[in-house]
Amino acid sequence: MSKNNIAKMQQVKSIRDIDIKGKRVLIRVDFNVPMDKDFNISDDTRIREALPTINYCIDSGVKSIVLVSHLGRPKARSVDFSLKHIIKRLERLLNRNIIFADSIESAKRELDSNGKDSKIILLENIRFEPGETKNDTELSKKLASLCDVYVNDAFGTSHRAHASTYGIAKFVSEKVAGILLKKEIDSFAKVIQNPLRPLLLIVGGSKVSSKLSLLQRVLDVVDKIIIGGAMSNTFLESLGFNMQKSLVERDLIPEATKILNLAREKNVKVYLPVDIVSSDNIDNPKDIKISPAQDVPENHIAVDIGPASVKLFSEVVGLSQTIIWNGPLGVYEIHQFSRGTFNIANAIANTYAFSFIGGGDTADAIDKAGQRDNMSFISTGGGASLELLEGNVLPAFEVLDRKE
Ligand code: 3PG
Repeated sequence: MSKNNIAKMQQVKSIRDIDIKGKRVLIRVDFNVPMDKDFNISDDTRIREALPTINYCIDSGVKSIVLVSHLGRPKARSVDFSLKHIIKRLERLLNRNIIFADSIESAKRELDSNGKDSKIILLENIRFEPGETKNDTELSKKLASLCDVYVNDAFGTSHRAHASTYGIAKFVSEKVAGILLKKEIDSFAKVIQNPLRPLLLIVGGSKVSSKLSLLQRVLDVVDKIIIGGAMSNTFLESLGFNMQKSLVERDLIPEATKILNLAREKNVKVYLPVDIVSSDNIDNPKDIKISPAQDVPENHIAVDIGPASVKLFSEVVGLSQTIIWNGPLGVYEIHQFSRGTFNIANAIANTYAFSFIGGGDTADAIDKAGQRDNMSFISTGGGASLELLEGNVLPAFEVLDRKE
């Protein structure tokens, strides 16, 4: 993992470094928030986290603000993915009227029409534009025509090189980071550059394949790694244990062995579950057992870490000074299988360590465990924070102006 890459990302100019008074500002935000079937927002953290930048623009007397975001991964224009569902929440949080524009052309017309107060326009889901994910030049130019200053505050989407996160910057003379983008990269730098040690990485989630390169690349940085969740099954199989019907990525078993050997060489301690909660069925469990990792009952699926693993992992957590956590340790969405993940959230909450939580499922699990306020930093980006951990320069940072 290159510390230079992190320093490079930290050098981007922030909205606070330039004069925005009287200017037209476009802010790329990440309003990709979870909603239920009636379009009620179940977690508005990402909207709240964008407020400091929006309010800063209002207080600085900008001429106009255009907010651009995606929502989900729509295949075509559809009301299910419309950003109009978030207008009310945004208006309530900002205490301001929002103008909704269903196209870039209508946003342009709104900007061109007169009005005395600075306008705030929310553009419809940018992924309804086929050129967005292709980083299309024409779309980038059209978006750029809406502003004098481009602000990226969408950390959750900063690993995507799309028209609104990447292409647009080429056509705007001033392009800077928003307050959230800056806060995210500075918090990450704090964890990685000069961490208090021991530095512990906890990885979970379902797929080894998505985190293999991460595990390899962090071996030079971390002191200890806890592997849990479904991804630990592949590692346990690599030790010769029979994980029965559990999700195991068999083709990756040699890679798992390689990582364990490499960790030993580099003196990084790796902790795997010593006992497992398993069940005959995940959605409709009739038989739930706790067994040593070596003795998972026939035909069972691993669904959580067991109590002995909770004890072991909690001790490792308690001895760490910096903790990075990405990925739940079991099927935490289902009550019976959530205890391992929640107990580790509680253990982290009880330490004095600096805790950096990758977004997505891990943040959701911490919320459900009631420990959000007890974590040092919870990132708004799941995929993005994983790429940061892997040591990549994220595309959204690449295209912003840099401090001299
Ligand atoms: C996320 O929820 O991780 C971000 O909003 C990015 O969404 P994407 O994975 O669809 O690009």
